[in-house]
Amino acid sequence: MTRKRDISVIETVDEMQSVVRSARADGISVGCVPTMGYLHDGHASLIRHASERHPIVVVSIFVNPTQFGPNEDFARYPRDLARDLEIVRQAGGTHVFTPTVDQIYPEGPRSSIHISGVTEVLEGASRPTHFDGVATVVSRLFEAMLPDVAYFGQKDLQQTLVIRELVRTSPLESVQRVRVEVLPTMRESDGLARSSRNVYLSAEDRREAPVIFAALTRGAELLEGGMHDLDAVEQAMRDVLNSVPRLEIDYAVAVEASTLRRPAAQGVLDEVALLIAARLGTTRLIDNILVRTGRP
Ligand code: PAJ
Repeated sequence: MTRKRDISVIETVDEMQSVVRSARADGISVGCVPTMGYLHDGHASLIRHASERHPIVVVSIFVNPTQFGPNEDFARYPRDLARDLEIVRQAGGTHVFTPTVDQIYPEGPRSSIHISGVTEVLEGASRPTHFDGVATVVSRLFEAMLPDVAYFGQKDLQQTLVIRELVRTSPLESVQRVRVEVLPTMRESDGLARSSRNVYLSAEDRREAPVIFAALTRGAELLEGGMHDLDAVEQAMRDVLNSVPRLEIDYAVAVEASTLRRPAAQGVLDEVALLIAARLGTTRLIDNILVRTGRP
């Protein structure tokens, strides 16, 4: 274990488990924030929230190879551990867990966890193996960090549904007992959701990227104004996105928040999720908004 001022950097699963087990034996609660590093204010907001609630906050930094497709950005995913440690320290994290690939996958990629249902649509349709990789790594990270509560961002809404389902269906006691909390998306002042991938945006991409949040906002305004025709809401979002001709829409949908699908029966939904994925230049961006539409 190496110390960076008051942060402990832990590299092995055994050491991680023993630190948390001894804390928990003393009645100390443990929060965790799983990340792939290159931290920004979205991650920091999760760490700050956790640090107000738990004496021990473990931030994992692991660029998980199994959640990247063959033509995705695993090799070029941005990495800067020294900067990340400083961000964790300032946000109040106490431990950073930076396992190697061998620590997380000692047997190689032999087995993986598949969550069905919520994984077939949207990101799962565009990235067929992505959520198997996410479910598998989050299960392994929970087994290592043994948290009481794990904090995730709404920025990756579908991922939060996958992780809730993982916890609900896991046969492992250490995974079942984790409480999952989802916190709001942090944005730049022009609405662009903060993301480690924003560093890929060219100056022109960066100028045009806020159109995604503008489209989501337009959809939300229509829903809040009483529009129940979800096709019309989707069309309105696409119209806003089309104001940037370079942007390629992957999806722009209005769906039931709990299932990320259109319900079979017509009627007023309690909560609608508006989700967009789009490509600008070489960068694929995702964002979403939840809108309560049910009667109070
Ligand atoms: P990563 O993309 O690094 O994100 C780590 C956590 O930060 C996720 O819960 C994500 O939703 C949250 N986050 C990202 N941008 C945010 C923003 N703008 N505001 C608030 N929270 C934000 O998500 C992953 O890593 C990985 O898939 C992981 C769960 C770690 C598994 O490998």
